[in-house]
Amino acid sequence: MTVPGSQHAARARPTALLWVAAALGGVLIGGSATAASLAMTTPERPEATQVVQPPPPATVGSLPRPMVSAVPAAESLCALPAVQAALAAGDDAAVIAASGGAMRFRSAIAGGAAPCISLADPGRIWVVINKQRPCDPIDFQPSGIAVPASTRTLGDTALRGDAAAALAAMISAAAAAGAGEVALDSGFRSFATQRTTYATQVGARGRAGAELISARPGFSEHQTGLAADVVACANGGCGSIEQFAATPQGAWVAEHAWEYGWVVRYHDGQTPLTGYQPEPWHLRYLGPDLARAYHDGGFRTLEEFFALPAAPDYAG
Ligand code: DAL
Ligand code: ZN
Repeated sequence: MTVPGSQHAARARPTALLWVAAALGGVLIGGSATAASLAMTTPERPEATQVVQPPPPATVGSLPRPMVSAVPAAESLCALPAVQAALAAGDDAAVIAASGGAMRFRSAIAGGAAPCISLADPGRIWVVINKQRPCDPIDFQPSGIAVPASTRTLGDTALRGDAAAALAAMISAAAAAGAGEVALDSGFRSFATQRTTYATQVGARGRAGAELISARPGFSEHQTGLAADVVACANGGCGSIEQFAATPQGAWVAEHAWEYGWVVRYHDGQTPLTGYQPEPWHLRYLGPDLARAYHDGGFRTLEEFFALPAAPDYAG
């Protein structure tokens, strides 16, 4: 069994011997080799270590130079003028850049050191909507929604403008890579549309079953314009969302979506955190910086990414 402190005491012994030798000889000797030879030749005098004072501090010039980072410490994120200016300008990418990058931005929020960043603002790229975090206001409507260019759209066809452009780029890249055609099955859904969607699922599956696959109105990411349900198409027809994961398009999207700013929001095995069954077709737009941090960090839920509480169910 290890006795607390015993390892430290063993490591400290040669140094103690050096001070003993220095005191006895009246000479301050530095260097571990000298200390080792003294340790071999000087008999242990434990009582002497109690009366010898440590040496004076080294001069400033001999101390190691502290590393000064060019990026801000997490604690100071909200005090940075560039962060404040970018927030006021509504420039989300600039906020992340001014924070020192997406990793620092994330860790500052996760560590509770970025109170100026609201994960509840449905107009921000970093908003988190889940069963505990409804849209605020509950009937929020994103501004600037657009239909993605050169993209087959099947149902709710629009997305927030930046997400629409990024989805079109991802779909074009999938086709260029030979994965096949990806179509947008459902993008922005208003509060009213989500009410109908949810009610339809409750009618088909009962309330408990519906709530594993469909958000209540006001609680869906689709209402922000930042979520896209995608399907695979071939030979003129398109499959269902449930079939997507098993297609070449599904495999390509699972691997490459983050390169275009998208992440799969509801992964396998995350139902205790998200409250939803896996949805490999439901992509969430985070923008390229946060999506890369999410991917590189191996995150599988936004709750984990921002260190938020699990949201398996509604408050009431
Ligand atoms: N299917 C997802 C959970 C939604 O309704 O937003
Ligand atoms: Zn969805």
